[in-house]
Amino acid sequence: METGSTRLLLLCRPGFEKECLAEITEAAAERGAYGWSRLEADSGFVLFETDQADRLYSQLPQLVFAREAWPVTAELTDLPEKDRVSPILDALGGQPQGGQLFCDTSEGDAYRATARFAGKFVHPLRQAMRGADLLTPKDQPNQPAWHALFLDSSHVLLGLDKPEHRPRWPMGVARLKFPPQAPSRSTLKLEEAFHVFLGPDWRRTMENTHTGVDLGAAPGGWTWQLVNQGLAVQAIDNGPMDEDLMATGQVEHLRADGFTWAPDYPVDWLVCDMVEQPARVAERMLDWLTNGWTRSTIFNLKLPMKKRWQTWQGIREQIDRRLGDAGVRYHLAAKHLYFDREEITVYLTRTDA
Ligand SMILES: C[S@@+](CC[C@H](N)C(=O)[O-])C[C@H]1O[C@@H](n2cnc3c(N)ncnc32)[C@H](O)[C@@H]1O
Repeated sequence: METGSTRLLLLCRPGFEKECLAEITEAAAERGAYGWSRLEADSGFVLFETDQADRLYSQLPQLVFAREAWPVTAELTDLPEKDRVSPILDALGGQPQGGQLFCDTSEGDAYRATARFAGKFVHPLRQAMRGADLLTPKDQPNQPAWHALFLDSSHVLLGLDKPEHRPRWPMGVARLKFPPQAPSRSTLKLEEAFHVFLGPDWRRTMENTHTGVDLGAAPGGWTWQLVNQGLAVQAIDNGPMDEDLMATGQVEHLRADGFTWAPDYPVDWLVCDMVEQPARVAERMLDWLTNGWTRSTIFNLKLPMKKRWQTWQGIREQIDRRLGDAGVRYHLAAKHLYFDREEITVYLTRTDA
């Protein structure tokens, strides 16, 4: 029989546990649920204790700092080395069938040693769970999936997710290969952002767009992504652009200040990776959107170490206020991407005509 969960597991980048907790605490409070957590610094996860974990999970908004979340059905410690499977099957007896099984561990340094074990253990556990009718005979990605998060090889957290809350990649760890022609590793950030914000069909979405501006473009990793999708790009940066990228003929390099330069005609996309005060970057993005210079933006906000959550809160309010005052309808999403470090990536697009 299914019993109510009292804990929500959230995975995040190690070092961002506080932000993850602040965010889930706020999301819970907005939904009339309250909880707490004892944080383990750099663990890469938060166990949020709340007697409303299932309801909260069902109503979960898109979270910025959590890569993945699910309610904990059971926690088992002291799994015997000779038979770890049987106690797991016993603990899950009577629980609903899942369409897939993910076996993993947290990203924190203290847990890395368990990753190999988890990667191997998924095979016997999957087979046993199929035998016990806890998993469908074949993978069914559209159904809830079981997760087994091993904190060590004898300690596991088990939970069932909902496909609509599942990240694009297991544990939110973006599986993207660095394209050898791209001028910088930053390119992966924008590619991940397209996947996360526009969905798996992002390339088709991009087919309908033709022009873009990249503020703070050098050496050209983000510009390369736009060029690769067929866009003509104006790249704004005082620094040098990659020669091969310029040789495509799709890029116009303008040595100008990204905070004052304005386009002669509206463009489909504005992307921005300038290392600057986040409020200043956001303000410039809002200039572009309210002036009708673009409809869609993806930009990076470098967050100050000690006030990451508060800074993002402030910027969210800044966006709501300014676009609200201008009567602009919009869609806003933000994510601490796998390829982000001390920064988050924001997708802000106009939804009005
Ligand atoms: C993190 S790098 C961008 C990397 C780039 N997105 C890529 O994928 O290769 C930041 C860039 O912003 C540029 N930058 C900083 N302030 C700027 C400003 N006010 N106007 C134009 N560019 C600026 C810097 O010259 C630097 O090249």
